[in-house]
Amino acid sequence: MNSLETFIAGIPKAELHLHIEGTLEPELMFALAQRNRIPLRLKSVEEVRRAYQFHNLQSFLDIYYEGAAVLIQEQDFYDLAWAYFERAYKQNVRHAEIFFDPQTHTERGIAFETVIAGLQRAMEDAASKLNVSSKLILCFLRHLSAESAVRTLEEALPFKKWITAVGLDSSEVGHPPSKFARVFESARQEGLLAVAHAGEEGPPDYIWEALDILKVKRVDHGVRCLEDSRLVQRLAREKIPLTVCPLSNIKLRVFEKMEHHNLKMLLEAELTATVNSDDPAYFGGYVADNFLAAQKALDLSRDQIATLARNSFEGSFLSGEERKRYLDEISRYCAKP
Ligand code: ADE
Ligand code: ZN
Repeated sequence: MNSLETFIAGIPKAELHLHIEGTLEPELMFALAQRNRIPLRLKSVEEVRRAYQFHNLQSFLDIYYEGAAVLIQEQDFYDLAWAYFERAYKQNVRHAEIFFDPQTHTERGIAFETVIAGLQRAMEDAASKLNVSSKLILCFLRHLSAESAVRTLEEALPFKKWITAVGLDSSEVGHPPSKFARVFESARQEGLLAVAHAGEEGPPDYIWEALDILKVKRVDHGVRCLEDSRLVQRLAREKIPLTVCPLSNIKLRVFEKMEHHNLKMLLEAELTATVNSDDPAYFGGYVADNFLAAQKALDLSRDQIATLARNSFEGSFLSGEERKRYLDEISRYCAKP
Protein backbone atom coordinates (compact mmCIF):
# COMPACT_ATOMS: atom_id res chain seq x y z
CA MET A 1 0.00 0.00 0.00
CA ASN A 2 1.29 3.50 -0.74
CA SER A 3 1.06 6.14 1.97
CA LEU A 4 -2.24 7.62 0.73
CA GLU A 5 -3.82 4.16 0.65
CA THR A 6 -2.67 3.56 4.22
CA PHE A 7 -4.01 6.99 5.19
CA ILE A 8 -7.42 6.16 3.66
CA ALA A 9 -7.56 2.74 5.30
CA GLY A 10 -6.84 4.09 8.77
CA ILE A 11 -8.69 7.38 8.94
CA PRO A 12 -11.81 7.22 11.17
CA LYS A 13 -14.94 7.37 9.03
CA ALA A 14 -18.70 7.57 9.34
CA GLU A 15 -20.84 5.93 6.71
CA LEU A 16 -24.06 7.84 6.02
CA HIS A 17 -25.44 6.15 2.91
CA LEU A 18 -25.64 2.40 3.24
CA HIS A 19 -28.63 0.20 2.41
CA ILE A 20 -28.44 -2.83 4.66
CA GLU A 21 -30.14 -4.95 1.98
CA GLY A 22 -27.35 -3.84 -0.36
CA THR A 23 -24.73 -5.50 1.84
CA LEU A 24 -26.07 -8.99 1.07
CA GLU A 25 -23.02 -10.76 -0.36
CA PRO A 26 -23.80 -13.70 -2.69
CA GLU A 27 -22.25 -16.17 -0.21
CA LEU A 28 -24.66 -15.11 2.54
CA MET A 29 -27.51 -15.01 0.00
CA PHE A 30 -26.93 -18.71 -0.74
CA ALA A 31 -26.52 -19.63 2.93
CA LEU A 32 -29.82 -17.92 3.82
CA ALA A 33 -31.60 -19.39 0.78
CA GLN A 34 -30.56 -22.85 1.97
CA ARG A 35 -31.49 -22.17 5.60
CA ASN A 36 -34.93 -20.88 4.58
CA ARG A 37 -35.45 -23.29 1.65
CA ILE A 38 -35.92 -20.46 -0.85
CA PRO A 39 -35.18 -21.41 -4.47
CA LEU A 40 -32.86 -18.97 -6.29
CA ARG A 41 -33.03 -18.23 -10.02
CA LEU A 42 -29.24 -17.98 -10.27
CA LYS A 43 -27.48 -21.19 -9.27
CA SER A 44 -24.01 -20.23 -8.02
CA VAL A 45 -22.08 -17.36 -6.39
CA GLU A 46 -20.22 -16.86 -9.68
CA GLU A 47 -23.47 -16.71 -11.67
CA VAL A 48 -24.86 -14.15 -9.22
CA ARG A 49 -21.76 -11.97 -9.48
CA ARG A 50 -21.83 -12.22 -13.28
CA ALA A 51 -25.44 -10.98 -13.23
CA TYR A 52 -24.34 -7.74 -11.54
CA GLN A 53 -24.05 -5.80 -14.81
CA PHE A 54 -26.25 -2.76 -14.53
CA HIS A 55 -27.04 -0.04 -17.04
CA ASN A 56 -29.11 2.24 -14.82
CA LEU A 57 -30.75 2.41 -11.38
CA GLN A 58 -33.79 0.29 -12.33
CA SER A 59 -31.72 -2.58 -13.74
CA PHE A 60 -29.94 -2.73 -10.37
CA LEU A 61 -33.10 -2.43 -8.27
CA ASP A 62 -34.74 -5.39 -10.05
CA ILE A 63 -31.92 -7.72 -9.00
CA TYR A 64 -31.53 -6.14 -5.55
CA TYR A 65 -35.18 -6.79 -4.62
CA GLU A 66 -34.87 -10.35 -5.94
CA GLY A 67 -31.89 -11.02 -3.64
CA ALA A 68 -33.68 -9.64 -0.56
CA ALA A 69 -36.25 -12.47 -0.81
CA VAL A 70 -33.91 -14.80 1.14
CA LEU A 71 -34.32 -12.65 4.29
CA ILE A 72 -37.08 -14.23 6.35
CA GLN A 73 -36.24 -14.62 10.04
CA GLU A 74 -35.02 -12.22 12.70
CA GLN A 75 -31.69 -14.06 12.71
CA ASP A 76 -31.31 -13.41 8.94
CA PHE A 77 -31.54 -9.66 9.49
CA TYR A 78 -29.10 -9.96 12.37
CA ASP A 79 -26.63 -11.96 10.25
CA LEU A 80 -26.93 -9.46 7.39
CA ALA A 81 -26.22 -6.45 9.59
CA TRP A 82 -23.53 -8.17 11.62
CA ALA A 83 -21.65 -9.13 8.43
CA TYR A 84 -21.74 -5.46 7.41
CA PHE A 85 -20.44 -4.26 10.77
CA GLU A 86 -17.53 -6.70 10.69
CA ARG A 87 -16.48 -5.46 7.27
CA ALA A 88 -17.00 -1.80 8.11
CA TYR A 89 -15.00 -2.17 11.32
CA LYS A 90 -12.02 -3.49 9.35
CA GLN A 91 -12.15 -0.31 7.24
CA ASN A 92 -12.20 1.94 10.31
CA VAL A 93 -15.83 2.91 10.08
CA ARG A 94 -16.55 4.23 13.57
CA HIS A 95 -20.19 5.18 13.02
CA ALA A 96 -22.84 4.08 10.49
CA GLU A 97 -26.29 5.49 9.71
CA ILE A 98 -28.02 2.59 8.06
CA PHE A 99 -31.00 2.55 5.67
CA PHE A 100 -33.49 -0.28 5.72
CA ASP A 101 -36.44 -0.79 3.37
CA PRO A 102 -39.24 -2.31 5.48
CA GLN A 103 -41.69 -2.48 2.55
CA THR A 104 -39.35 -4.86 0.68
CA HIS A 105 -40.04 -7.29 3.51
CA THR A 106 -43.54 -6.47 4.77
CA GLU A 107 -44.86 -6.80 1.17
CA ARG A 108 -43.63 -10.45 1.34
CA GLY A 109 -45.43 -11.07 4.61
CA ILE A 110 -42.45 -10.55 6.96
CA ALA A 111 -43.43 -8.66 10.11
CA PHE A 112 -41.94 -5.19 10.60
CA GLU A 113 -40.82 -6.30 14.06
CA THR A 114 -38.84 -9.26 12.65
CA VAL A 115 -36.83 -6.91 10.44
CA ILE A 116 -36.11 -4.19 12.96
CA ALA A 117 -35.43 -6.51 15.91
CA GLY A 118 -32.70 -8.36 13.98
CA LEU A 119 -31.09 -5.12 12.84
CA GLN A 120 -31.29 -3.57 16.29
CA ARG A 121 -29.66 -6.59 17.95
CA ALA A 122 -26.74 -6.43 15.50
CA MET A 123 -26.41 -2.69 16.16
CA GLU A 124 -26.17 -3.32 19.90
CA ASP A 125 -23.51 -5.98 19.34
CA ALA A 126 -21.59 -3.65 17.00
CA ALA A 127 -21.50 -1.04 19.75
CA SER A 128 -20.45 -3.42 22.53
CA LYS A 129 -18.09 -5.74 20.63
CA LEU A 130 -16.62 -3.51 17.90
CA ASN A 131 -17.10 -0.05 19.37
CA VAL A 132 -18.94 0.96 16.17
CA SER A 133 -21.94 3.21 16.85
CA SER A 134 -24.93 3.30 14.52
CA LYS A 135 -28.36 4.73 13.81
CA LEU A 136 -31.25 3.46 11.74
CA ILE A 137 -33.03 5.28 8.90
CA LEU A 138 -36.34 3.90 7.66
CA CYS A 139 -36.64 4.40 3.90
CA PHE A 140 -39.92 4.50 2.03
CA LEU A 141 -39.89 2.93 -1.43
CA ARG A 142 -40.82 5.71 -3.82
CA HIS A 143 -42.14 3.35 -6.54
CA LEU A 144 -44.91 2.34 -4.10
CA SER A 145 -47.84 4.58 -3.20
CA ALA A 146 -47.87 7.42 -0.69
CA GLU A 147 -50.58 5.46 1.19
CA SER A 148 -48.25 2.48 1.55
CA ALA A 149 -45.61 4.80 3.02
CA VAL A 150 -48.17 6.13 5.53
CA ARG A 151 -49.08 2.55 6.56
CA THR A 152 -45.37 1.75 6.96
CA LEU A 153 -44.83 4.74 9.22
CA GLU A 154 -47.77 3.58 11.36
CA GLU A 155 -46.19 0.12 11.65
CA ALA A 156 -42.89 1.72 12.62
CA LEU A 157 -44.17 3.95 15.42
CA PRO A 158 -44.12 1.27 18.16
CA PHE A 159 -40.37 1.01 17.44
CA LYS A 160 -39.73 4.74 17.20
CA LYS A 161 -37.04 4.68 19.88
CA TRP A 162 -34.87 2.62 17.50
CA ILE A 163 -35.36 4.92 14.48
CA THR A 164 -33.55 8.22 13.96
CA ALA A 165 -34.85 9.37 10.60
CA VAL A 166 -36.96 8.55 7.58
CA GLY A 167 -35.59 8.44 4.04
CA LEU A 168 -36.73 7.91 0.47
CA ASP A 169 -35.18 5.47 -2.00
CA SER A 170 -35.86 3.20 -5.01
CA SER A 171 -36.82 4.32 -8.56
CA GLU A 172 -36.29 8.08 -8.60
CA VAL A 173 -37.47 9.44 -11.95
CA GLY A 174 -41.26 9.84 -12.03
CA HIS A 175 -41.52 9.69 -8.23
CA PRO A 176 -40.64 13.20 -7.01
CA PRO A 177 -40.20 13.93 -3.30
CA SER A 178 -43.49 15.90 -3.30
CA LYS A 179 -45.37 12.57 -3.69
CA PHE A 180 -44.35 11.85 -0.06
CA ALA A 181 -45.04 15.28 1.50
CA ARG A 182 -47.71 13.96 3.87
CA VAL A 183 -45.79 11.02 5.34
CA PHE A 184 -42.67 13.13 5.86
CA GLU A 185 -44.78 15.75 7.63
CA SER A 186 -46.19 13.04 9.95
CA ALA A 187 -42.70 11.65 10.58
CA ARG A 188 -41.48 15.14 11.49
CA GLN A 189 -44.35 15.55 13.95
CA GLU A 190 -43.21 12.28 15.53
CA GLY A 191 -39.76 13.78 16.04
CA LEU A 192 -38.01 11.86 13.27
CA LEU A 193 -35.37 13.55 11.10
CA ALA A 194 -35.48 13.31 7.30
CA VAL A 195 -33.18 12.49 4.41
CA ALA A 196 -33.99 11.58 0.80
CA HIS A 197 -32.33 10.24 -2.31
CA ALA A 198 -32.48 13.07 -4.82
CA GLY A 199 -30.43 14.13 -7.81
CA GLU A 200 -29.01 10.64 -8.46
CA GLU A 201 -30.87 10.10 -11.74
CA GLY A 202 -33.55 12.72 -11.06
CA PRO A 203 -33.17 16.44 -11.85
CA PRO A 204 -32.06 19.28 -9.52
CA ASP A 205 -35.76 20.11 -9.01
CA TYR A 206 -36.07 16.94 -6.95
CA ILE A 207 -33.32 18.24 -4.64
CA TRP A 208 -35.23 21.52 -4.20
CA GLU A 209 -38.38 19.53 -3.35
CA ALA A 210 -36.48 17.35 -0.87
CA LEU A 211 -35.25 20.49 0.90
CA ASP A 212 -38.40 22.62 0.71
CA ILE A 213 -41.15 20.02 1.03
CA LEU A 214 -39.60 17.07 2.87
CA LYS A 215 -37.31 19.34 4.97
CA VAL A 216 -34.40 16.94 4.65
CA LYS A 217 -31.25 17.45 6.71
CA ARG A 218 -29.10 15.61 4.12
CA VAL A 219 -29.41 14.79 0.45
CA ASP A 220 -28.51 11.25 -0.60
CA HIS A 221 -26.40 11.35 -3.79
CA GLY A 222 -27.37 14.88 -4.89
CA VAL A 223 -24.63 14.84 -7.53
CA ARG A 224 -26.84 16.49 -10.15
CA CYS A 225 -26.94 19.67 -8.02
CA LEU A 226 -24.05 21.08 -10.06
CA GLU A 227 -26.50 21.63 -12.93
CA ASP A 228 -28.13 24.44 -10.88
CA SER A 229 -25.86 27.17 -9.50
CA ARG A 230 -28.58 28.64 -7.23
CA LEU A 231 -29.04 25.21 -5.69
CA VAL A 232 -25.29 24.86 -5.12
CA GLN A 233 -25.30 28.22 -3.30
CA ARG A 234 -28.17 27.08 -1.10
CA LEU A 235 -26.55 23.72 -0.26
CA ALA A 236 -23.26 25.46 0.57
CA ARG A 237 -24.88 28.24 2.61
CA GLU A 238 -26.99 25.81 4.66
CA LYS A 239 -24.18 23.24 4.86
CA ILE A 240 -26.50 20.46 3.68
CA PRO A 241 -24.43 17.28 3.48
CA LEU A 242 -24.44 15.22 0.28
CA THR A 243 -23.93 11.48 0.72
CA VAL A 244 -22.01 10.68 -2.46
CA CYS A 245 -21.45 7.06 -3.54
CA PRO A 246 -18.69 6.96 -6.19
CA LEU A 247 -18.62 3.25 -7.11
CA SER A 248 -22.42 3.13 -7.22
CA ASN A 249 -22.50 6.12 -9.57
CA ILE A 250 -20.15 4.40 -12.00
CA LYS A 251 -21.90 0.99 -11.83
CA LEU A 252 -25.28 2.66 -12.47
CA ARG A 253 -23.78 4.92 -15.16
CA VAL A 254 -24.59 8.22 -13.51
CA PHE A 255 -21.03 9.00 -14.69
CA GLU A 256 -19.38 7.10 -17.50
CA LYS A 257 -16.16 6.50 -15.59
CA MET A 258 -14.62 7.51 -12.27
CA GLU A 259 -12.41 10.13 -13.95
CA HIS A 260 -15.67 11.94 -14.88
CA HIS A 261 -17.12 11.87 -11.35
CA ASN A 262 -17.86 15.32 -9.93
CA LEU A 263 -16.82 14.60 -6.31
CA LYS A 264 -13.80 16.88 -6.52
CA MET A 265 -15.93 19.68 -8.01
CA LEU A 266 -18.42 19.29 -5.15
CA LEU A 267 -15.58 19.78 -2.67
CA GLU A 268 -14.25 22.75 -4.62
CA ALA A 269 -17.74 24.27 -4.50
CA GLU A 270 -17.46 24.12 -0.68
CA LEU A 271 -20.23 21.54 -0.37
CA THR A 272 -20.28 19.11 2.55
CA ALA A 273 -19.67 16.05 0.38
CA THR A 274 -19.15 12.65 2.00
CA VAL A 275 -18.09 9.28 0.55
CA ASN A 276 -20.22 6.17 1.06
CA SER A 277 -20.77 2.71 -0.36
CA ASP A 278 -24.57 2.62 -1.03
CA ASP A 279 -24.93 -1.11 -1.84
CA PRO A 280 -21.41 -2.49 -1.45
CA ALA A 281 -22.22 -6.14 -2.20
CA TYR A 282 -23.51 -5.06 -5.62
CA PHE A 283 -21.14 -2.23 -6.54
CA GLY A 284 -17.79 -3.80 -5.81
CA GLY A 285 -16.57 -2.11 -2.66
CA TYR A 286 -17.10 -0.93 0.89
CA VAL A 287 -16.45 2.62 2.03
CA ALA A 288 -12.64 2.61 1.99
CA ASP A 289 -12.75 1.11 -1.52
CA ASN A 290 -14.93 4.05 -2.54
CA PHE A 291 -12.44 6.54 -1.08
CA LEU A 292 -9.60 4.80 -2.85
CA ALA A 293 -11.27 4.53 -6.26
CA ALA A 294 -12.23 8.22 -6.15
CA GLN A 295 -8.81 9.30 -4.89
CA LYS A 296 -7.01 7.46 -7.68
CA ALA A 297 -9.23 8.62 -10.52
CA LEU A 298 -9.58 12.22 -9.36
CA ASP A 299 -6.17 12.65 -7.76
CA LEU A 300 -7.68 13.74 -4.45
CA SER A 301 -5.14 15.16 -2.01
CA ARG A 302 -4.51 14.00 1.54
CA ASP A 303 -6.29 17.16 2.73
CA GLN A 304 -9.32 16.38 0.59
CA ILE A 305 -9.47 12.84 2.01
CA ALA A 306 -9.33 14.29 5.53
CA THR A 307 -12.09 16.80 4.63
CA LEU A 308 -14.30 13.98 3.33
CA ALA A 309 -13.75 12.00 6.54
CA ARG A 310 -14.47 15.09 8.68
CA ASN A 311 -17.59 15.83 6.62
CA SER A 312 -18.87 12.33 7.35
CA PHE A 313 -19.02 13.12 11.07
CA GLU A 314 -20.13 16.74 10.56
CA GLY A 315 -22.98 15.44 8.40
CA SER A 316 -24.01 12.70 10.82
CA PHE A 317 -26.90 12.72 13.28
CA LEU A 318 -24.54 12.26 16.23
CA SER A 319 -24.79 14.73 19.13
CA GLY A 320 -22.38 17.66 19.19
CA GLU A 321 -20.32 15.99 21.88
CA GLU A 322 -20.04 12.61 20.09
CA ARG A 323 -19.20 14.37 16.85
CA LYS A 324 -16.43 16.34 18.53
CA ARG A 325 -14.93 13.15 19.95
CA TYR A 326 -14.67 11.62 16.47
CA LEU A 327 -13.42 14.87 14.91
CA ASP A 328 -10.70 15.08 17.56
CA GLU A 329 -9.76 11.51 16.69
CA ILE A 330 -9.36 12.56 13.04
CA SER A 331 -7.22 15.55 14.06
CA ARG A 332 -4.92 13.30 16.09
CA TYR A 333 -4.77 10.82 13.21
CA CYS A 334 -3.86 13.56 10.72
CA ALA A 335 -1.21 15.02 13.03
CA LYS A 336 0.69 11.73 13.05
CA PRO A 337 3.73 11.91 10.78
N1 ADE B 1 -31.93 1.46 -3.08
C1 ADE B 1 -30.75 0.88 -2.88
N2 ADE B 1 -29.78 1.59 -3.48
C2 ADE B 1 -30.37 2.66 -4.07
C3 ADE B 1 -29.92 3.75 -4.82
N3 ADE B 1 -28.63 3.93 -5.12
N4 ADE B 1 -30.82 4.63 -5.28
C4 ADE B 1 -32.11 4.48 -5.00
N5 ADE B 1 -32.60 3.46 -4.28
C5 ADE B 1 -31.73 2.56 -3.81
ZN1 ZN C 1 -28.77 4.69 -1.96
